[in-house]
Amino acid sequence: MDKIATLKLPDGKTIELPGMSGTLGPDVYDVRSLYGKTGVFTYDPGFMSTAACTSDITYIDGDAGILLYRGYPIEQLAEKCDYLEVCYLLLNGELPNKAQKVDFDFTVTRHTMVHEQLSRFYQGFRRDSHPMAVLLGVVGAMAAFYHDSLDINNPEHRKVSAFRLIAKLPTIVAMSYKYSIGQPFMYPRNDLSYAANFMHMMFGVPAEDYKVNPVLVRAMDRIFTLHADHEQNASTSTVRLSGSSGANPFACIAAGIATLWGPAHGGANEAALNMLEEIGDVSKVGAFIKDVKDKNSGAKLMGFGHRVYKNYDPRAKLMRETCHEVLGELGLKNDKILALAMALEKIALEDDYFVSRKLYPNVDFYSGIVQRALGIPVSMFTCIFALARTVGWISQWTEMISDPGMKIGRPRQLYTGAGRRDVPAIINRS
Ligand code: CMC
Repeated sequence: MDKIATLKLPDGKTIELPGMSGTLGPDVYDVRSLYGKTGVFTYDPGFMSTAACTSDITYIDGDAGILLYRGYPIEQLAEKCDYLEVCYLLLNGELPNKAQKVDFDFTVTRHTMVHEQLSRFYQGFRRDSHPMAVLLGVVGAMAAFYHDSLDINNPEHRKVSAFRLIAKLPTIVAMSYKYSIGQPFMYPRNDLSYAANFMHMMFGVPAEDYKVNPVLVRAMDRIFTLHADHEQNASTSTVRLSGSSGANPFACIAAGIATLWGPAHGGANEAALNMLEEIGDVSKVGAFIKDVKDKNSGAKLMGFGHRVYKNYDPRAKLMRETCHEVLGELGLKNDKILALAMALEKIALEDDYFVSRKLYPNVDFYSGIVQRALGIPVSMFTCIFALARTVGWISQWTEMISDPGMKIGRPRQLYTGAGRRDVPAIINRS
């Protein structure tokens, strides 16, 4: 170990912190022994400077706008691979060869149906429930249906659970949609690709065959690929923290879905589209931007800004491209919302408020417009993000569980409450 940082505390104690280097990215300094040796903690509530784990899966360079899955640039994966190849890569570390791909696709498609009893679970929800609430409940309930893959210490069980989650999420998400509109559930079709099958379950009806449009299926597949993993974001960290207690994978993924729901995370694509619809017209963009810049207004430009990307989000570039392709295919090039989004993007990219804060469009700025054009209602956007991110969550969970040095996650705190005091009798309390 040649990199060592020395930390000197005000009481004169010093401690040497060993440095660690990854393949790419900043070095880290190991503070694990700090409390034991000095009795102090580090303080980093939003994990602004804290690496919570080592990981071989995803690398982001936010300043350069780079995103790699297992070393491969997202632009190349989006161009050359389908989503199931990306799933294989995230789970196994390497891209599949032809035979491995056939085998993997076969296994996923053989897990796409859900237990028939699970279908009845939906009837307990109000039809006007938010689909994310339904998704959260149903994924949590998977632990009650698939007991035979819950032993987290058994690698075979972990593998089967991963297949079940990746294969069944499209079915469960589509069922949440069908339930909300009162249409019958559609069974999966194993002759279709992953993305085409999802669209069939979303938009098909028993009375009529769903006609697959390859341009739209490709767009759906790309949405899945671009959302498949994103390093140690809030929902992934939640999955890891839940998993560190030994909880089963279905419970952990449900916890990740709960975190993803927030508007600062996966809920942003829904919020971005709602924002565009509220602005309504290009003529109102100036006033909206003024509002966003006024700190007292509480307004934010949804779909802009990112904790890690301080440059154009590479996923946003790809999604922008897909957006134009889809709207072209559907003859919606003059779409009002797209025109509004482009005007907003142009102004924001030139405005000093956004430029100086390095606020660029993120993936959600365009993914909402694409999904809307595909016929997906706004309330389903975050469910689709959850579907796509499931492979990332389960890959990160598996990586953590497979590490023999895994420890339960247990942050500490700086206590700022009352000092020790005695409980007064109730008649003496004010
Ligand atoms: N609109 C207006 N101002 C913004 C925005 C925005 N979207 N994002 C950040 N700022 C300002 C913020 O007010 C602050 O200004 P100041 O320095 O004057 O106080 C400055 O930029 C730095 O922002 P921050 O809140 O410290 O940045 P953060 O890293 O904590 O937050 C974020 C990142 C994504 C939560 C935030 O940019 C945001 O809320 N964006 C809108 C929601 C969104 O699109 N989220 C999707 C993220 S991508 C999908 C995913 O990975 O889940």
